[in-house]
Amino acid sequence: MLINLAIPQAHDAVVTVAPRAPLEIHSYPTVPPKQDQVLIHVLYTSSSPLELHQADGGLLVDHPYRMGSSYAGVVVQVGPPSSPSPHSLSVGDKVFGFAFRTPEEKCHQTYITTDWYCVSKLPEGMKMEEAVSVSCNLITAFHALTADLKLDLPWPVKEGQEVRDGDAPILVWGAGGSVGNYALQVLKHWGYRNVVAVAKAKHHDFLKELGAKVCFDYSQSDVVEKILEYVGTGKTPRIPYILDCIGSQEGTLRPITKIAERGTKVAIMLPVIVTHASQEVAPTYEMDVSKVLPEEWKEGVELKGTRTHFYMDNEFFKYHLQPEIVPTVLKQGLIKPNKLKIVEGKTLRDRAEKALALLRNQAVSGEKLVWRIADE
Ligand SMILES: NC(=O)c1ccc[n+]([C@@H]2O[C@H](COP(=O)([O-])OP(=O)(O)OC[C@H]3O[C@@H](n4cnc5c(N)ncnc54)[C@H](OP(=O)(O)O)[C@@H]3O)[C@@H](O)[C@H]2O)c1
Repeated sequence: MLINLAIPQAHDAVVTVAPRAPLEIHSYPTVPPKQDQVLIHVLYTSSSPLELHQADGGLLVDHPYRMGSSYAGVVVQVGPPSSPSPHSLSVGDKVFGFAFRTPEEKCHQTYITTDWYCVSKLPEGMKMEEAVSVSCNLITAFHALTADLKLDLPWPVKEGQEVRDGDAPILVWGAGGSVGNYALQVLKHWGYRNVVAVAKAKHHDFLKELGAKVCFDYSQSDVVEKILEYVGTGKTPRIPYILDCIGSQEGTLRPITKIAERGTKVAIMLPVIVTHASQEVAPTYEMDVSKVLPEEWKEGVELKGTRTHFYMDNEFFKYHLQPEIVPTVLKQGLIKPNKLKIVEGKTLRDRAEKALALLRNQAVSGEKLVWRIADE
């Protein structure tokens, strides 16, 4: 692989300039790293539905807005370290991560400047293409399971450790997607044994390998009845934990309202998609879960909207997830990257637009969209 260590004064970024307008490439100054920061030459990224929500729906965006939050690349400059240095990053290190807080660390651009704790070192033998499928949604799984469902994920995991509620049913709806794949693997590694996964039947064998005890197909009209039959009538709530990995008003929330009961904690990926984007139709979203199907929920159901952008509120996760936990679980083979779909295109803009079109056309099923950022 060719590594470009010459640092340009300015570099290209993919930008949304207005809802549903074609993406543009704008040039921005390259920002030298301050104390405990690094400058990274970005080689690969992945696309997630958030980019569609931003590009077509203008969700939480001030235009013009730089896109992207998953990167893999090479460290080209290291800022002055505080003493003692909190990190061991050096020029030439291959790295990857989830960075989203400032325009200069958004990842659909060829150079990003970010803090050391938003950086993971690439494990030996892992490709950058695989790594860009991981950080954002693996961190989403950690955040949603702990902050929203209040499950314990102690670190490091000790041999023979027992977690509270290790045998309680945990429903993961949308397990076939990227967030769902990581949620199953995290639950399995941390010792949750009764994970009920919902996804198309074609994924079921794979999802059992990732940690599902049993799988149901959401395209079957009696999926809710089948799930309730499986969990039986022993305890209430019958399913104490539900993770909605999709957050679609009609596709996921409506059936989940028929399952959740008093005491069930439900974590829902935000935004709730009220109308999906299409070529003809602008999407609509809701960020307040209490406003979605308010008449349908049983009293006493605890609804939480998941927002991974707040994962750093947990100080331990802020400083340990990306530098330590994510690369360790990958290196040890405990968490496997998503299956990939490489999006080809002649230019940066072509690749970004192609990935967006696949998301808009709902053509993504059990694969992460991965593409090159730097042309060289
Ligand atoms: N707020 C946050 O912190 C946060 C963080 C991460 C993601 N999200 C959001 O969460 C959503 C999912 O993200 P992702 O990256 O996992 O997306 P993804 O991998 O692109 O999702 C695609 C998957 O969605 C599944 N799906 C679609 N409709 C479904 C339904 N009705 N029931 C079950 N599964 C369904 C499909 O499963 P099949 O293949 O089985 O059909 C497909 O594999 C996005 O809207 C994203 O923006 C939010």
